[in-house]
Amino acid sequence: MAEIVLGIGTSHGPMLVTGTEQWASRIAFDKSVKHAWRGGEWSFDQLVEERASERLDQHLTKPAMEAHNKRCQDALDNLADVFAEARIDVAVIFGNDQMEIFDDRLIPAFSVFYGDTITNYEFPPERMAQLPPGIELSVPGYIPAGGAEYRGQPDLAKAIIAQAMQDEFDLAAMKSLPKPETPHAFGFVYRRIMRDNPVPSVPLLINTFYPPNQPRVSRCYDFGKAVLRGIQSWESDARVAVFASGGLTHFVIDEQLDQLFFDAIRDRDISRIAQVSEKVFQDGTSELKNWIPLAGMMAELGLEPNFVDYVPCYRSAAGTGNAMGFVTWQ
Ligand SMILES: [Fe+2]
Repeated sequence: MAEIVLGIGTSHGPMLVTGTEQWASRIAFDKSVKHAWRGGEWSFDQLVEERASERLDQHLTKPAMEAHNKRCQDALDNLADVFAEARIDVAVIFGNDQMEIFDDRLIPAFSVFYGDTITNYEFPPERMAQLPPGIELSVPGYIPAGGAEYRGQPDLAKAIIAQAMQDEFDLAAMKSLPKPETPHAFGFVYRRIMRDNPVPSVPLLINTFYPPNQPRVSRCYDFGKAVLRGIQSWESDARVAVFASGGLTHFVIDEQLDQLFFDAIRDRDISRIAQVSEKVFQDGTSELKNWIPLAGMMAELGLEPNFVDYVPCYRSAAGTGNAMGFVTWQ
């Protein structure tokens, strides 16, 4: 029976792969859209007014942002060291697509990659030209120069699919990626945590982001249970690591929600997150749903969480930015 010996939860946002001088490049975008925050919809100016008493400006100085960035990079180095030392044979990764391989012609609620080769090719120039301001600078953080190909693990993927189908999850199955790019949730793990030398892996994609078919929190929690049983059903002596990629709250940071989430992990009571309104899990904050199956699985296995760091990386007085979370379980 395959053995799960490590869990890693990591944020993956562009602020982790660009210098702090680039962080403000997204503010023009922040001002141009409505933001999901605490279950409502807010303009940038409404958020600035609502959050004035929090004195978020203290986080917006160059030294404050540099300090935040350093803590994030130190935490990521820590995760990469833990991964290297754990002598992992295979990884299972919960992540989401952000219109990289899917588009609104087809977005599965849950999908599993079960092919041999994961392609992470560079974007063609016309695709680069379409990226929003501030995002194009982050691309090398997810795709190495010249592109890359990584190994899948079809046997494990099929064991997971079989168990999940038995548990009444009607999954989409992908033998090759619909586009030759790896969604950045996964590219980040391969590059930054596995240091461009990934073990074979099984990407599990949850549509956290896009209405109308986002799975609910409770469903993500149950999916984790099915995946756990699927991994354990695989006849192999492999040492397995399970990852969650994404979050924490963004594009408007909500430290209270992140705290509640970490408390649930600490108390090994992940199902309590289902009591939070689904309306809260929108935009980048929805990526907490990638963590829920992992956290539930780790609680069930009794692996001990180590909260490596939590860093709310603000970029504006509206509280936009990305709260970064880094946790290992062993
Ligand atoms: Fe993301």
